Amino acid sequence: MRASRTAIAPTGWDGPGTPGDLAQSLLQWFSTEARDLPWRRTRNPYGIWVSEIMLQQTQVQTVIPYWNRWMEAFPDVHALATASEERVLKQWEGLGYYSRARNLQRAAARIVGSEAGRFPDTVESLLEMPGIGRYTAGAIASIAFNRPAPILDGNVIRVLTRLLALRGDPRTRLLQEILWARAQDLVTASEGRGDVRMPWGERLGDCSALNQSLMELGATVCLPKGARCEICPLQTRCRARAEGTQERYPETTPRPAPIQKVHAAVVVEHAGRMWVRQRPAGVVNAGFWEFPGLEIPDTFDSVRQHVARWLSVPEDRLAPLAPIRHAITRYRIRLESFHTTGIGRPDVLGSAGRWVDHRELEVLAFTAAHRRIVRLLPKAAVPAA
Ligand code: ADE
Repeated sequence: MRASRTAIAPTGWDGPGTPGDLAQSLLQWFSTEARDLPWRRTRNPYGIWVSEIMLQQTQVQTVIPYWNRWMEAFPDVHALATASEERVLKQWEGLGYYSRARNLQRAAARIVGSEAGRFPDTVESLLEMPGIGRYTAGAIASIAFNRPAPILDGNVIRVLTRLLALRGDPRTRLLQEILWARAQDLVTASEGRGDVRMPWGERLGDCSALNQSLMELGATVCLPKGARCEICPLQTRCRARAEGTQERYPETTPRPAPIQKVHAAVVVEHAGRMWVRQRPAGVVNAGFWEFPGLEIPDTFDSVRQHVARWLSVPEDRLAPLAPIRHAITRYRIRLESFHTTGIGRPDVLGSAGRWVDHRELEVLAFTAAHRRIVRLLPKAAVPAA
């Protein structure tokens, strides 16, 4: 059972202007300023769902090509439900947080296998799907079905805490309740105002446009640093702006400092083939392929020395490739990789892997960091297309 969300009753609207005035200004602004994004040209719930999942942890400009390719590879829920995991991971390759792709496929299978076979169209039924939380359920219900469902993500939190000068950490339960209630006030106030025409001619439902206008304002105007208040449609009604304190909101407690780690990976090449292994089920990035590697302990002297010992090869058989820096959740990882044609200890390479040529390296799904290693391999080794 989901916890009740009404334990703390947020007080009613106590903002500058009425929700209706603000909704009107937001819709008007969005009708001229909305960015032309591919998922805004469709009302297909499946496409909108895919976009919202991709956008959960990834920026719009990165998502666009992935979304286009995905919609070509898996044009509907059925195509996704029946695709091989290998193909799904390959399409997601480089986007990170791969449980998102796995959840998409699990949800697709559930929809296709359900009695009605219909796409869930209410917040409640969307919340039943793996990978869909309160924000994503509200986004899909409003954007695809024009339901007056609220949304609250980092962008919307910033807009609302500034507009209403809401102090305190937005992660606290009390402020969450208030913010969800205010987001609800705005989307409710947009209902019945009629379709909104986009700059490229498409028409969006009022609730769909209202929620997207909040996302858009947060992404393009109400920026964390350097808020562009002078072009904001809410500038005369924003409490934080009136006080000149907009950049103090939201009052989020800083997260703990990131943890630094060093990893190493080795491209072991033999007779034109490289040894790769597949990450087992149940670990992070499960199902993806990678070069063998290990985490280097804090006390290491030299990463190359450590790897040479691990593989039982002389150090000078390991040709260093350029270090790669990447981040995952709170870890900042420096990945040092090496290329060797000395096989070293076959038992270290393990049996859960295989030898692949350069062509297969392109076909298999690799994590973003290991795909970058592939790009670092000596050019001479890459066959002509
Ligand atoms: N961020 C989350 N959802 C979005 C959407 N539909 N359009 C633009 N940015 C978003």
